[in-house]
Amino acid sequence: MIIAVDGPAASGKGTLAAGLARHYRLPHLDTGLLYRAVGRAVAALEGAPGFEAAAVAAARAVDTAHLDAVALAAADIGVLASKVAVIADVRAALYDFQRQFALRPGGAVLDGRDIGTKIAPDADVKLFIEADSKARMERRARQLEARGQVVDRYALYHQIEQRDARDLANPNGGFYPAPDAHLLDTTLLDIEAALRAAVAIVDGVMARKAQHN
Ligand code: C5P
Repeated sequence: MIIAVDGPAASGKGTLAAGLARHYRLPHLDTGLLYRAVGRAVAALEGAPGFEAAAVAAARAVDTAHLDAVALAAADIGVLASKVAVIADVRAALYDFQRQFALRPGGAVLDGRDIGTKIAPDADVKLFIEADSKARMERRARQLEARGQVVDRYALYHQIEQRDARDLANPNGGFYPAPDAHLLDTTLLDIEAALRAAVAIVDGVMARKAQHN
């Protein structure tokens, strides 16, 4: 079973995807980490003429075995990730690894922005996670604070809005809910309630599929 979990920055899709992976005993890939690793690799070149070429080279060389989720979590790396994510050749360089992950025997859970539309359009279940930007800011702030970082909520809110705007305008993205995606708004849900809702959707889809086979 392939489960695609998409949604905007800090929507809770990563936490939900990890919870679904545990629940169904599937491997999980947070595809945002790939873009974050590329963004971090070219941070020093931001604004310089060689930025795009360096980002493509970094995407081709990204060490998928050592994606350090904690080191890559910083908000400014998220912004850099959204800058390299508009480059078509960066997306192309990261495609194969994601596609192969989705096709693992037994299935997988992938979360990102374009899983249901581009990476695994054939996924068994597609979830599109939403939450209003204030709720997303607060969640991300608490996550960062739990890691000992000092958070400026005003700046974080604007960073999330800016990243949303760049992601929505990404011409190479596919950052919209797939036509067969199930929308899940987590604004008013805590992690446990959101996971229960997601499991109910996945179980419902799989039960309907089983009936039709
Ligand atoms: O999900 P996360 O916040 O880690 O993603 C960081 C950035 O990477 C996003 O803002 C987006 O620009 C990019 N991204 C992408 N496609 C994905 C996952 C992330 O373009 N599948």
